[in-house]
Amino acid sequence: MAFTKKTVRDADVDGKRVLMRVDFNVPLKDGVVTDDTRVRAAIPTIQYLKEHNAKVILMSHLGRPDGTGFQPELSLRPAAEKLAELTGYEVKFVEDTYGEKAAEAVAALEPGDILVLENVRFDKREKKNDPEIAKTLASYGDVFVLDAFGTAHRAQGSVVGPAAYLPAYAGFLLEKEVDTLTGIFADPERPFVAIVGGSKVSSKIGVLDHLIDSADTLIIGGGMAYTFFLAKGYTVGSSLKEEDWVERAGDMLKKAEDKGVKILLPVDNVVADHFGEDAEGEIVDSDKIPDDRMGMDIGPKTRELYAEAIKGAKTVFWNGPMGVFEMDQFAAGTEAVCRAVADSDCTSIIGGGDSVAAVNKFGLADKMSWISTGGGASMELVEGKALPGVEALLDA
Ligand code: 3PG
Repeated sequence: MAFTKKTVRDADVDGKRVLMRVDFNVPLKDGVVTDDTRVRAAIPTIQYLKEHNAKVILMSHLGRPDGTGFQPELSLRPAAEKLAELTGYEVKFVEDTYGEKAAEAVAALEPGDILVLENVRFDKREKKNDPEIAKTLASYGDVFVLDAFGTAHRAQGSVVGPAAYLPAYAGFLLEKEVDTLTGIFADPERPFVAIVGGSKVSSKIGVLDHLIDSADTLIIGGGMAYTFFLAKGYTVGSSLKEEDWVERAGDMLKKAEDKGVKILLPVDNVVADHFGEDAEGEIVDSDKIPDDRMGMDIGPKTRELYAEAIKGAKTVFWNGPMGVFEMDQFAAGTEAVCRAVADSDCTSIIGGGDSVAAVNKFGLADKMSWISTGGGASMELVEGKALPGVEALLDA
């Protein structure tokens, strides 16, 4: 599906103040950015704007502050410093977002300058999409650019608000993310194998539903598999389960069967007697999980089965781990799937969140065709939902 919105390429930015929403919601430890993926991802658009003589004003949220003012541990200063380090550009930073200091910093910009404003969520009006803050932010720019794909599903002040006052364009990251994540569903090269893991059926029901409409094979792992087991009449011991979702899980199995979509569920599992770093795994078949054991990972037979299905794929979409991969003794399932995707010559699209952390943990990021920078946003796109941030942009 072609991207249907105007992009920065369509905008006249020469000498203009360009207000740009990025997603610099990055993990920090002791004031240092521990994963700079999202900062790197914003660079192509920032570079383009700088090279085209724009005055660039960057804004973002970081974390979920309470909205009552400055919280030092959630300042965007470290992200601004990271941007300077990665680009070699001088990057200005102002400890203000909606007040006079911010307005003065903007007024002092020269073409080619880059300024980062403080965390937009330090004021609770941001999350409420208050028109007053949108107006204030819009007053900083002549043009608005949205490149914050990871936040494009949030109808919040800095994401959708400025588009009501300024001509609004997509940045390159947003364009690429939307193109990639919608494109695989429009016309995937087949066989199309989708892999969905993670703990809950409830949080991914829309994703599962949409994938059954498009994929040839749907591989299921992680905690959600146990709710599917219940739907098949297995007992699951003390594994994670969502009793209220068993019926819906059963409906999904039925829908897949009716459509001729192959669903793969684990045939064996690594189980443990408790959840913890010191827990030891043992392997049991899926219909023989003892009452006092909980599933922690897919088992070795399942790893082979899944790897085989992935090997034959031409397109793979993956979201969600196969087990508790943060604990090394339960990481083999997620690693096996990750390696199978990396080794296959398919187009591989990794939907954000935990699967990205897994790909990074196993050092396989450069083997994937596309790794989304958005967690919630990529899931909403895959569900077929429109993203409010994208909707607000000018049509191409
Ligand atoms: C994310 O990390 O998924 C985005 O930055 C959105 O953050 P939020 O869930 O706090 O809105």
